[in-house]
Amino acid sequence: IKKVAVLTSGGDSPGMNAAIRSVVRTCVFHGLECYGVYRGYQGMIEGDFEKMDARSVKGIINKGGTVLKSARSQEFRTKEGRQKAYDALKKAEIDAFVVIGGDGSFTGAMIFNQEFNFPVMGIPGTIDNDIFGTTHTLGYDTALNTVVEAIDKIRDTASSHNRLFFVEVMGRDVGHIALNVGVGAGAEEILIPEEDLGLDRLLESLRRSKQSGKSSSIVVVAEGDKIGKNVFELKDYVEEHMEEYEVRVSVLGHMQRGGSPSCFDRVLASRMGVKAVESLLTGKSNYMVGLKNDAMDLTPFDQAVKGKSKINMELLRVSDIMTI
Ligand code: F6P
Repeated sequence: IKKVAVLTSGGDSPGMNAAIRSVVRTCVFHGLECYGVYRGYQGMIEGDFEKMDARSVKGIINKGGTVLKSARSQEFRTKEGRQKAYDALKKAEIDAFVVIGGDGSFTGAMIFNQEFNFPVMGIPGTIDNDIFGTTHTLGYDTALNTVVEAIDKIRDTASSHNRLFFVEVMGRDVGHIALNVGVGAGAEEILIPEEDLGLDRLLESLRRSKQSGKSSSIVVVAEGDKIGKNVFELKDYVEEHMEEYEVRVSVLGHMQRGGSPSCFDRVLASRMGVKAVESLLTGKSNYMVGLKNDAMDLTPFDQAVKGKSKINMELLRVSDIMTI
């Protein structure tokens, strides 16, 4: 392997830049050439590459987003699109790539590897933490801190007006963000897809909370929650059944994906970049780099994509006790 490409793909997450920096500098350290691919797989198809050296990634470790831009390429899902990407990589004499992204990006890399026997390595980058084979994905820790800070602010206004707030947080189909920020910000109730609380129990819990002397309440709702109502319908439902509450809704949205990465994410990104490039150099391919028991680890792409990332149910109990 002499030339390695690096790209970011799917939804961006804080720490992606730190990972790009790490991949580029690890390549330089080992005497390899490194090329940045713009706009994920779409840029790969179009041959949108730029040679990067140690200095081209200066001053980005602390930046949110991704300097290489990201995309969800529909064309790469087709055989023709992947053929174009392969031709572009061959033309530039690139002989391996590292993709920083989520499970969709890994599925693409895995198929590409099967079709062209092309060396690929993955770094998990998503705020959702929904990937099997790593306890933390890049950007998850930063997102938790961003959301906790936002909820602390919502709490200020909620308590000034004695209001109940439903705060919707991201996470796609999993409740990692909701569960952790719920405990971290002291939410009265946490609704996650992994456990359907049900509307009756929600009302019961809110009544208990009111009776225990609380004047305001925060309910954190994961966007993938399965209670059967969205946050706005929940507001109407609760106002209908509990006159004592004045309810507001706050959907935090994409601000959760932005911002300067936490120290944890910067360190994780640096470690993952080193591991990804050095694994390629030892002849490994088709793996995702991950964090397990504070050590770098490799998980085959097919397992990373198929496996389920489990949430920590102990936190639900902790939350119940804390909101007594
Ligand atoms: O996967 C990251 C994520 O931010 C999810 O939490 C959310 O469901 C989704 O991406 C939003 O995607 P889009 O960028 O297409 O709005």
